[in-house]
Amino acid sequence: MGVRIIGTGSYLPEKVLTNKDLEKLVDTSDEWIVSRTGIKERRICSDKEAASDLGIKAARRALADANVRVEDIDLLIVATITPDMFFPATACIIQTKLGIKNAAVFDLNAACTGFIYSLSTAQQFLQTGTYKTALVIATETLSKITDWEDRNTCVLLGDGAGAAVLRKQKGDSGILSCYLDANGQYGDLLNMPGGGSRIPATVATVKNRLHYLKMRGNETFRIAIPEMTKSVKRGLEGCGLNIEDIALLIPHQANIRIIKALAKRLSIPIEKVFVNIDKCANTSAATVAIALDEANRQGRIKEGDIIELVAFGAGFTWGSCVIKW
Ligand code: UT7
Repeated sequence: MGVRIIGTGSYLPEKVLTNKDLEKLVDTSDEWIVSRTGIKERRICSDKEAASDLGIKAARRALADANVRVEDIDLLIVATITPDMFFPATACIIQTKLGIKNAAVFDLNAACTGFIYSLSTAQQFLQTGTYKTALVIATETLSKITDWEDRNTCVLLGDGAGAAVLRKQKGDSGILSCYLDANGQYGDLLNMPGGGSRIPATVATVKNRLHYLKMRGNETFRIAIPEMTKSVKRGLEGCGLNIEDIALLIPHQANIRIIKALAKRLSIPIEKVFVNIDKCANTSAATVAIALDEANRQGRIKEGDIIELVAFGAGFTWGSCVIKW
């Protein structure tokens, strides 16, 4: 018996923000953004949209793809760093709006690695038989915590959501291994300082722009490459497979230069690496979930293919998930 992903879905908000649009906001250029990051445009949600709204749309598509009814979901995990509010959990908000009853529901915060942490968590519950059908949603509205005056970060981020439905099924397909890791010593390199119990919101914290995402990009970049490389290898070691076995690698999309460096270190041809950073930018936890759904719908994954998801993000957290489709 294997825990399989039986359906995927994603949702991108309608509004497209191009690099040219950003040139009007901060001192940057389309040329700099494309050459340094690979990003051409990103989606931005409306003032009325929150993380749960995007997540619900992605979830409905995943449920339709899986041909699973809402009533059958008994585990809901929502990966996000931009919840609708501190509490209740965005998972509870989505549960009510989707009409899920009698389910365990919770949010999971592992930043950009959130979808992989959530898949691994769902796998444990399904493998043990505690729950039967899991819905994993990764949803982010990073535009709401973006400092639109900070050119170091505002050009990198976007909004979106992805979702997957999982079930234990007969056969050898499904999640073969997950590798999860973290090192909190790097917490200062990528965070949002204000609004929590350490620095609660005050007029001063707003004035000092502490409610926005802060990143020391270059240091983050240099740690991301080796840790993502290690993650891919550890994931494969966990199920006795090799790089050559991978039909498609789906990495976190933070920077095309990270993705290319990863492919080079792994000696995996770039054609076997899924890339959508040009259109979606970095949507934190949602990134890998959206990419998985796009790859699935584009027919880039065939039944029986070995694929590997890999991500790296704030915490720092990192990890991978090897799947036989
Ligand atoms: O999702 C979680 C994981 N996130 C990541 O892995 C992101 C990792 N970091 C990165 O992708 C890259 O570090 C960045 C894209 C953020 C920056 O690229 P970089 O090659 O590391 O550039 P840098 O930070 O060393 O900056 C180089 C120059 C600086 O100017 P000076 O000091 O050399 O004069 C920056 O001020 O580029 C300047 N710069 C910009 N110029 C035009 C920074 N942002 C911009 C910008 N437009 N938007």
